[in-house]
Amino acid sequence: MAYTVSKLRNYSVATLDSAFAEARGAFQEEAVQVSDASQFKAHRDRWLARKTGILTQISDLWLKQATAQSKGDVGKRFNELKGHIEGFLERHALELQLRELEKSTTKRIGTSEEWKKAGLGPSLDITLPGIQRPIGAEHPIVKTSNEMVAVFRDLGYSVQEGPEIETDYYNFESLNFPPNHPARDTQDTLFMANQRSKPLREQLLLRTHTSPVQIRTMEKLKPPIRIVIPGRVYRNDPPDASHSPMFHQIEGLAVDTNITFGDLKGTLDHAMKAFFGSSVKTSFRPSFFPFTEPSAEMLVSCFVCGGSGKRDSEPCRPCKQTGWIEILGCGMVDPNVFEFVKDNGYDPAKVSGFAFGMGADRIALLKYGVDDLQVFFQNDVRFLRQFA
Ligand code: PHE
Repeated sequence: MAYTVSKLRNYSVATLDSAFAEARGAFQEEAVQVSDASQFKAHRDRWLARKTGILTQISDLWLKQATAQSKGDVGKRFNELKGHIEGFLERHALELQLRELEKSTTKRIGTSEEWKKAGLGPSLDITLPGIQRPIGAEHPIVKTSNEMVAVFRDLGYSVQEGPEIETDYYNFESLNFPPNHPARDTQDTLFMANQRSKPLREQLLLRTHTSPVQIRTMEKLKPPIRIVIPGRVYRNDPPDASHSPMFHQIEGLAVDTNITFGDLKGTLDHAMKAFFGSSVKTSFRPSFFPFTEPSAEMLVSCFVCGGSGKRDSEPCRPCKQTGWIEILGCGMVDPNVFEFVKDNGYDPAKVSGFAFGMGADRIALLKYGVDDLQVFFQNDVRFLRQFA
């Protein structure tokens, strides 16, 4: 028989307890019968409807009729019951929604044309465990490159990138390479086919360094700038233990008023200590690049042998017993380079800057003690897994 609210015989605690327990039991018993949305609504309305719901009846017949002394006893029990019913219905509603969703997806998957074609049909059991896909890890070169970029990001440098297929203008001309510079020879540079009919500066090639992104960025952003440029570069080098036609560079450029060679040295010395450890020393020796003047090569004290040139009593291979490792090319931006972006605020009479570029692959080789560059590109997971 359906539950109805009847008047209380008295307001003793025992009577109240049993009356509220009976109401709660009835609510619960009815809830068990609910299996779809319309039944849920009927059940909810029967108990919670404002005017005629059972809770309202209990309020009218028990709470409002209570004597002054028993008001508190009834009120407490009434609030408990109300809280229970409302909480239960809220959870029940969610549960029903979830069940509906489950039913409809199963149906959709079961009948979808795609699945049928694949021969899976309704027999697909979505409760079976899925196919586990192994989680990948950063390639050691990418990892090395990201770590070096992070050192410069910490100094306030932002990351810039540029295209790997580049024009002669950005790769050479705007970087102050004279027309007959040997780097423009097919000996070193991989040119795109069928470019000869175009003017030289528009001819396409695979960029031989990340330096073209210096110009591309200065065309885009006004000074002051501090940027770091990771990326792939290409040269006509047959693959061997220390060469690859594709490799990776990390480039840097800082332009502002009053940037000096001292800033270059201080910045790079800090970066090397942050990357290799605080005990490494740096050293500079003169060099040449068309786009920097003066230019230098930076060396770091060998982090394998600590600069001694020997490992135990064996000669140290990475530094060829010299105690120093050549790590990057750098220099002060040549005023001729600024001339190409003068209109964007890079007047060589007003701004100065430094640039540097290093090979991520070589640094990764040295860092991980790998002696053949090619294993980085063969991508045998047994090799790569060691760095995960
Ligand atoms: N682009 C030069 C190279 O590939 C490296 C470099 C970058 C040198 C910036 C000086 C300044 O060898």
